[in-house]
Amino acid sequence: MAVDTSISTEEFWLFGYGSLIWKPPPHFDQRIPGYVTGYVRRFWQASQDHRGTPDKPGRVVTLIERSFWETLSDPHPSASSDKVWGTAYRIETAKVAEVKEYLDIREINGYTIHYTDFHPADASPMIKTLVYIGTPDNDQFMGPQDPERLAEHIYRSKGPSGPNKDYLLSLETALDGLSPESGDYHVKDLADRLKKISEATGGVSRGKEALDHELKKVDSTDEQEETEKRIL
Ligand code: BEZ
Repeated sequence: MAVDTSISTEEFWLFGYGSLIWKPPPHFDQRIPGYVTGYVRRFWQASQDHRGTPDKPGRVVTLIERSFWETLSDPHPSASSDKVWGTAYRIETAKVAEVKEYLDIREINGYTIHYTDFHPADASPMIKTLVYIGTPDNDQFMGPQDPERLAEHIYRSKGPSGPNKDYLLSLETALDGLSPESGDYHVKDLADRLKKISEATGGVSRGKEALDHELKKVDSTDEQEETEKRIL
């Protein structure tokens, strides 16, 4: 008897280390905090259509393979532990085929599809996850940036998904909420610099209320960011 291969019973998980942490994709039925290893998270990906424009691209995060990152000269030191924290989402079984088919043919904004082992924070067994990475060979990969200039750039940039500074501050807050050890020095240092720039220029620094507002917006409207808006 022929086997119907069109229906997959395998679980399908997506790992978010950027906006997906606070803006979940549609069609998920489980959300788990945890980490991947072997990468470094950096604001080294130019964003032309979400947190910037083609003329004035903003900056969003990508993952860099740690072995490659070690060959670069980065003003920010590596994290003390080899963990990049984020969130894994399990896609509803009924939606897996639909989501996979779409994911397999799509390259998003310079990001490409990769698979990596995800470690749940509660030490339950490792999960294979799909992850979007802007690798060093994509046109929007910027490479090492001076932290102060990068914070200024993020402070000034904005795009259709909103101010770039909201992305940075939301990421900092969302990471702090995952686990007592999920903070990321690179993200925190940029956020601290951005808050100082904001204070110095009379801007109001964005706090928890704004993130709560953003979370509510995502819950209640169809606003979605890089991946989820386009693919799911
Ligand atoms: C994320 O992990 O949140 C993400 C990564 C690349 C593109 C969009 C979202």
